[in-house]
Amino acid sequence: MTSKELRDNFLKFFEKNGHAIVPSSSLLPADPSVLFTTAGMQQFKQYFLGEKSPYGDKVASCQKCFRTSDIEEVGDERHLTFFEMLGNFSFGGYGKEKAIKLAKDFLDSINIKINYVTVFGGDRDIPKDEESAKIWGKLGFSEANGNLRFEGRKDNFWGPTGEEGPCGPTTEIYVHGIEIWNLVFNEYYQDKDKKFTPLKQKGVDTGMGLERLAMVSGGKANIFETDLFSPIISELRSLASKLEAKLLSSDEKAERIIADHIKGAVFLISEGIAPSNVERGYILRRILRRAIRYGNVLGLAEHNLIALAKKVLEIYKDVYPEIAAREADILTAIQNEEEKFKKTLNEGLRQFEKGLDAFELYTTYGFPIELTLELAKEKGIQINIEEFNKKFKEHQEISRAGAEKKFKGGLADHSEKTTKYHTATHLLLAAMREILGPEIYQKGSNITAERLRFDFNYPQRLSEGQVEKIGNLVNRKIKEDIAVEMIEIPKSEALKIAKISFDPAKYGEIVKVYKINDFSIELCGGPHVKRTGELGHFKIIKEESSGAGIRRIRAILE
Ligand code: ALA
Repeated sequence: MTSKELRDNFLKFFEKNGHAIVPSSSLLPADPSVLFTTAGMQQFKQYFLGEKSPYGDKVASCQKCFRTSDIEEVGDERHLTFFEMLGNFSFGGYGKEKAIKLAKDFLDSINIKINYVTVFGGDRDIPKDEESAKIWGKLGFSEANGNLRFEGRKDNFWGPTGEEGPCGPTTEIYVHGIEIWNLVFNEYYQDKDKKFTPLKQKGVDTGMGLERLAMVSGGKANIFETDLFSPIISELRSLASKLEAKLLSSDEKAERIIADHIKGAVFLISEGIAPSNVERGYILRRILRRAIRYGNVLGLAEHNLIALAKKVLEIYKDVYPEIAAREADILTAIQNEEEKFKKTLNEGLRQFEKGLDAFELYTTYGFPIELTLELAKEKGIQINIEEFNKKFKEHQEISRAGAEKKFKGGLADHSEKTTKYHTATHLLLAAMREILGPEIYQKGSNITAERLRFDFNYPQRLSEGQVEKIGNLVNRKIKEDIAVEMIEIPKSEALKIAKISFDPAKYGEIVKVYKINDFSIELCGGPHVKRTGELGHFKIIKEESSGAGIRRIRAILE
């Protein structure tokens, strides 16, 4: 079966069994405490907590996911950063028995034989899952038969995503010795202090990696031999052989890393992320630069990554039309990063040999830490990774702290002038998202009666043209004299419509959302002017750096 058939069969099977089919959500979740969508359940998180699902209580999806947790493992038979997760979900609709039977029936329907299963064995906080073991028992799986094992918290317990949320024991299905399907029984809520409270409504959340399913269904030795990867690997080999760079067996790992990372990069760029030195942009930069480096190892010529990216687009364009729509942006971003990296690589290597510190290599030359570690290994040099991690964390936290400080205390002065600057700040952020891209976030804000100062993520100096366009767009919105509307709605609703830069846990259950048409929709405590026309003329007076990957704008209202 092709991967397309597997994807379609899965969704059809669950549709036939009363599930509504829901499209994949974006790779960028609304919850800012999580960088990426890492599981199918994320877009349904609130329905596990009792909020009514608009799709009904049984749904299924094929979700785009991106995980950095396995990045070190990429290169083996089965680990990836980007992957697709097939899942069926129930929000009080059915329980363990039906969930386990559906999984078994689906695998039977495509002739996949389960090797063995694992079940949660219990610990101090959560009891052993006897119920699941009994259900499996009726299907012929038991400890006595040697095809059921109990495992602890580390292996058979899932969640929550982010700082708090639904979680529970799991039962996992293995085929040919690899885990292919994880069935989670959401029975608890874990709060920020890691305390468990039983959920009123029990939920089912399952996830099966499409790549692994394709591997076992097609009898392949690894995921890279499935049709979700083989076109990329073949292209890579033909490019490498054109250069007569002969592939050694040890180059297999390099091939796999390149194939995985180029795919991840294509999908991240398609969501509007640009390579930078912070947060999501940094992850993108890391995987792209790593792909480039391994490309060098295999003797790929410059810009060969573009040809590989095109293969990724070919594989997925019918399933995810949003990536096809951004083809030009994707290819340009990859090419630009390649050029940027080439420039800094040589200089960085020189500095590295002189003994420059890993953190400085990262801030000044954009060397991802793995690159520095790999180089250090080649040269037999010791790197103090703890020191790097400490500095790196501080660096990432400074930007968040700025944002939070503004949220907590920056609004003390509610005079008329600061109110105007406050609304101007919303217009500025919305304008930047329009001109620079949707991935722009607030990294800090400071308002006085004289000016606004605004920090945001962007990898390089803005051009004069960009600054002018942003200013003009803000002024156009001021001239349109749009009403500034405030609505008070439940937090979970707000997270769906507003982009926010703060941890949602910091807000109450009912939050204020300020809307300026559809141009700007922000969670915010206010206050704001009634109409944008009150602001007068907006002028950006300075654009400067405010740390690696962070820019600062100062602007005034005249
Ligand atoms: N949410 C579960 C997982 O990601 C199914 O493994």
